[in-house]
Amino acid sequence: MSRETTPNMSIDTSKIARGLVERAFYTSEDIYEEEQKRIFGKTWVFVAHRSEFRKPGDFRTLDIAGQPVLAVLGDDSRVRVFYNTCSHRGPLVATEPRGNKASFRCMYHHWEYDRQGRLAMVPREEGYAGAFRKEDNGLIELPRVEIFEGLIFAAITEDVPSFADFLGVAAPDLAYLETTGQGALEVLGCYDFLYKGNWKLLYENTLDDYHAQYLHAGAYKMPEYEYGQAYASQALGGRGRSPEESNRQTRAVGMHSVLEWRDAPETLKYQTERIRHLHVAIFPSFLGLYHPGWDVTNYRILRPEGIGMTRVHNYVLGPANMDPEGKRALAERFHYSYGPGGRIGLDDVRVFEHCQRGLRANGRDLLLARGIDKPGDQGGAADEHNIRNFWSTWSRYMSAPDVKGGAQ
Ligand code: FES
Repeated sequence: MSRETTPNMSIDTSKIARGLVERAFYTSEDIYEEEQKRIFGKTWVFVAHRSEFRKPGDFRTLDIAGQPVLAVLGDDSRVRVFYNTCSHRGPLVATEPRGNKASFRCMYHHWEYDRQGRLAMVPREEGYAGAFRKEDNGLIELPRVEIFEGLIFAAITEDVPSFADFLGVAAPDLAYLETTGQGALEVLGCYDFLYKGNWKLLYENTLDDYHAQYLHAGAYKMPEYEYGQAYASQALGGRGRSPEESNRQTRAVGMHSVLEWRDAPETLKYQTERIRHLHVAIFPSFLGLYHPGWDVTNYRILRPEGIGMTRVHNYVLGPANMDPEGKRALAERFHYSYGPGGRIGLDDVRVFEHCQRGLRANGRDLLLARGIDKPGDQGGAADEHNIRNFWSTWSRYMSAPDVKGGAQ
């Protein structure tokens, strides 16, 4: 048995290799603290989409590994990512989730930072001794920031591999999401929601092809899902289809994971060419989905706020060159599917809350072993190669404090 020990926990990596996952990984406060340090504090994390920054002063705030961060578009059209803290006595300089500001004025003593992060004004500055210089007291930029297609990622430590190495062989899948054969995407909207469950539940769920036809069976019968039965019939091979014919894949792509298939023509209503149904999970917190039937792109960004509480930034995106009516219709389809009025998301959140409660019971290890007898990185319909790959990456980070996190 291979058991890696860290100050507050031990992880049996041989169990994970057999598809067994301990309940404490979802419920232990020690695990949560270690994840913040060893995973979110030591790798690339999604910050925002480039299209969220249209005018100088547009900004977005978030936390990375518990540290508040501020991304802002400067007057020079560059997006910078700063630690969101005043140099004087430490309050946040931006308190809203997003917006636009001419400058960032700290609420406490009104020190004011410009859109490039420079300290521009200090009230009664003459009260400081001569050694004080505004140039030395601007906002501090995060050490690593990278834009891939329209996606902005950052790390709070210098000690990460290049973004290209981090992304590795997942780059083509992520790039496909950002174009889906229709040109660059832009954010049409984003809303945040909280669920009372561990962040890993949504990561697994987005890669899980086994649950949809069961958990979402009711949703598929709703009028908005007029093609629902045809869609459901694809799952697990469906009526008369073998799993192979259904083209469904669960795939490890380096340290990241994919679920994908080719949608059948009868499920396509809003477009007829882009048949690749794709879910891409970039470890640890970026989940991107393209649904050909709805012709909707959805990004789910995980922001853990505790072992049993997760904030999700739920984005809908569409082609930047689409006409306004097309964008409105696309956003409407998002509303009744992955969006705030949709059954799919509600079904998932409801089950996460039941999972989180159930996982407190002194039950067996969880079993993520579907398709474990099939060698290699790729499985078929409803196999769990991609979810086991997540746990393999997770245990690698959690067991090796000095891991640099490059693609495998
Ligand atoms: Fe920010 Fe004083 S704490 S200006």
